[in-house]
Amino acid sequence: MAEDRERWGSRSSFIFAAVGAAIGLGNVWRFPYITYQNGGGAFLIPYFIALITAGIPLMILEYAVGLKTQGAPPVALKKIWKKAEWIGWFAILIVFVLATYYATIMSWAVNYFYHSFTLAWGRTGPEINNFFNNILLGKSGSPGILGGIQWPVLAGLAITWILIYLALFKGVKTLGKIVYFTVGIPWLILIIMVIRGLTLPGAIDGLNFYLTPDFSVLLNPRVWLAAYGQIFFTLSLAMGTLIVYASYLPKDSDITANAFITSLANCGTSFFAGFAVFSTLGYLAQSMGVTVPEVTTSGLGLAFVTYPTAINLLPVASQLFGALFFLLLLTLGIDSAFSQVEPVVGSIADKWGFNKKWVLPSVCIFGFIVGIPFTTRGGFYWVDIVDHFIATYGLTLVGFLECIVIGYVFGASEIRGYINSVSDVRIGPWWDVFIKFITPIVLGVSFVMQLIKLIQRGYGAYPIWTAFTGIGLLIVLLILSFVFSKRKGGNP
Ligand code: PFF
Repeated sequence: MAEDRERWGSRSSFIFAAVGAAIGLGNVWRFPYITYQNGGGAFLIPYFIALITAGIPLMILEYAVGLKTQGAPPVALKKIWKKAEWIGWFAILIVFVLATYYATIMSWAVNYFYHSFTLAWGRTGPEINNFFNNILLGKSGSPGILGGIQWPVLAGLAITWILIYLALFKGVKTLGKIVYFTVGIPWLILIIMVIRGLTLPGAIDGLNFYLTPDFSVLLNPRVWLAAYGQIFFTLSLAMGTLIVYASYLPKDSDITANAFITSLANCGTSFFAGFAVFSTLGYLAQSMGVTVPEVTTSGLGLAFVTYPTAINLLPVASQLFGALFFLLLLTLGIDSAFSQVEPVVGSIADKWGFNKKWVLPSVCIFGFIVGIPFTTRGGFYWVDIVDHFIATYGLTLVGFLECIVIGYVFGASEIRGYINSVSDVRIGPWWDVFIKFITPIVLGVSFVMQLIKLIQRGYGAYPIWTAFTGIGLLIVLLILSFVFSKRKGGNP
C-alpha cells in the first residue's frame, strides 16, 4: 500500500503544510491575550518550557508514528498496538468537531472581510460591539435559545467549506503548493501590520503591557497549565493532523529537524504577532484616553470588536488595513481548517480503501451540516462551549493516551531508535523520559485539575447543564471511536 500512497512534492511542502496547520487563529489572538493574562513577559518562560518539555517531544512522536506506519491515525495507532485503533478514531472525531466550529469562526472573518471595504461595522466601539453581537451573530442571550439561522454566517460557512474542498480535492501534491501561499501571505501581512502598529502613537504603552514581566505568576499552577494548553493547541498536537501529514512523507524522511523547524516557526510567529496586536491596542488606548487593560477584552471579542475599533481610528487607509487584517485571519485560518479535514478524509480512505474523490465531498457536506447549529443566534455560545470541551479535555486526553501507548506498550526507546535512524539531529534518552513521565504527568494533572474546576463551578457563566452536554459530547465521541475501531476495514 505504501508504494501508491500520496506524497508531498518536496520536503519544504511538508514543512509549510505543518507550519500552516500550526499557525492559525490561535496565534494572532489567543497567544497575545493568554500571554497578557498570565503575567505578560514572564509567561514566555513557562511557554518556552512547555514547548521544550511537551510540544517538541510530542511532535517528534506524532511525526514518527505517521512516518513509520504510513497511515492516518486509526490505522497508524493500530499498527503500533492492535488495541489502540480507537485512540486514533477518538482523535479523528475530535478534530472533525473542531473543524465544524473553526469553520464557523472563519465564517465570521469572511463576513468582516466583506464589510471591511465599506467599514460597515460602524465607527465607534459601541457601534462595532453592536455589529458583532447583534447584527452579525444576533446573539440570543443564552445557549438554551438557538433562535433562527443567521443567514450571512451560514453563507460564510458555505464559502469556508468550499475553500476547504478546493484546497484538498486535487490531493496532497497540490496542497503542498497551496500552503506556500497560505503561509507566505499572512507572514507578509503580519510584517506590514507590525510596521504599521509600531509607528503609531501609543504603541510603546501596548508593548509595555505585552512584555513587562510579572514574575510572581510563575508560582501559580494556572499559568503553567495555560502554557501547556496553548502549546498543544497552537502546534495542532493530539489531533491526528501531524500523523497524517507525516504519513505522506517517504519512509526515510527526517523527523527531528522537521519538528524543530515547525515548532519554532510557529512559536516565533506567535511572538511576532503579539507586536502587531499590542502596538495597535496601545494606539487605541491612547486615542480613547484610557489605559491598555481597559481596551483589552477577552478572546474572540478582541479580534472582532477591539481590533476593528482600532483600525477605524487609523489616520489613513483604514479600509485597507481592515481588509488586510481580515485577509490575515482568513489566510492564517484556512490552512489550519483544511489540516483538520485531511485527517478525517485520510482515515476513512485508509481504513476502508474508499476513493478520496468521494470521501472528501461527503466529509465537507457533512461538516457543513453539523456546523449549522453554530450559525444560529445561540451559536456563539456553543462555539465557546464546544471549543472548551474539545480543546481542553479532548486534546489532553488524546495526548496522554498517545504517550502511554508509545512510551509503555510500543516502547519509547524502540521508536527513538527508528527516529534516530532517519533523522539528521539525533535525540537522546531524555526524550524517553519526557514521553514516559513528564508529558503524560503534565497532561494528566491538567486534565484532572480542569475537571475538578468544572464540577465545582461549571464552565464560564453558562448554566450547569451545558457542562454536562459538553461531557456528554465527549462520551458520545468515545463510544463512536470504539464502534469505528470494531468495524472491519477494507485494507489490511
Ligand atoms: N493550531 C491552530 C491554531 O493555532 O489556530 C488550531 C488547530 C489546527 C488545531 C489544526 C488543531 C488542528 F488539527
